[in-house]
Amino acid sequence: MAIDIGRYLSERAEMVERALEAIVPALDCRPARLHEAMRYALFGGGKRLRPVLALAAAEAVGADSTLLIREACALELLHTYTLVHDDLPAMDDDDYRRGRLSTHKVFGEAVAILAGDALQTLAFGVLASGDHPAGKKTEAIRLIADACGSQGVIGGQVVDIESENRKIDAAELDYIHRHKTGCLMRASVLLGALLGGCSPEQYRRLSDYGEAIGLCFQISDDILDVLGTTAEIGKPAGSDQARGKATYPSMHGMDASRRRLSQLCRESIDALETFDDKAAPLRALALLVVERKK
Ligand code: IPE
Ligand code: IPE
Ligand code: MG
Ligand code: MG
Ligand code: MG
Repeated sequence: MAIDIGRYLSERAEMVERALEAIVPALDCRPARLHEAMRYALFGGGKRLRPVLALAAAEAVGADSTLLIREACALELLHTYTLVHDDLPAMDDDDYRRGRLSTHKVFGEAVAILAGDALQTLAFGVLASGDHPAGKKTEAIRLIADACGSQGVIGGQVVDIESENRKIDAAELDYIHRHKTGCLMRASVLLGALLGGCSPEQYRRLSDYGEAIGLCFQISDDILDVLGTTAEIGKPAGSDQARGKATYPSMHGMDASRRRLSQLCRESIDALETFDDKAAPLRALALLVVERKK
């Protein structure tokens, strides 16, 4: 089935935008400066790929994705918090994000750290408060907590920082990428599957899909850091090299990085072979990750 993935993405992202608007405390809500910072970080653009993956996974297993829009938003709250912290001087020290000044450049480091913290706790509050059965909510919270914790995103971020200007091997680089980025992407897909009522077999397949596109996404991020411009990617191009980051192009070269990208895209689509046309958006999203320019 042919699908207009650009349109699919923008329609779903628009749904996410509206739902996020209702979830985050208003600008005049005390402490106003904190809520201003949370909103600045959240509403400054962003592809909304993680929530869209959750919605697409729910649709792939036959569910009505509007029933999990708030939970999908929790993924964007979490992702945005990781970006705010990732840009801090103590981490990647990047001054631009999503086409404008990073949150700490506008609000200062203390408020940026706290805004990130508040986005994270808000996300778990959202996951805990939906209409889904209690058992499913507990499972969802567990899934996302594991993905974001010390053996997930945070673990990957720590090894990423520790590996700056050091020689590491290919397995270590894959550990970084699969954790700092892959864990939340895979969990985004699985959150949609879980709340959408998937079978155990569908869960396993979507886990493989999510794992492959998670790594794929970070490899394409590494490539864009080299080949993209700051205007295109909305964050400082060349930042990885400047900070001595371990990346796919620096370790494997551009050609091998591109080959790995295509291979992972194929793997992710192959994982969906038993799914019908309802998985067309997931298949198209995998191709989009490879072809993206931002
Ligand atoms: C950037 O993620 C950080 C990585 C995990 C590579 P995105 O490229 O999805 O950033 P936004 O949300 O669209 O700004
Ligand atoms: C991002 O990795 C991972 C997280 C934010 C968790 P990068 O440091 O490569 O992301 P960008 O390039 O700053 O968006
Ligand atoms: Mg980083
Ligand atoms: Mg960074
Ligand atoms: Mg990057």
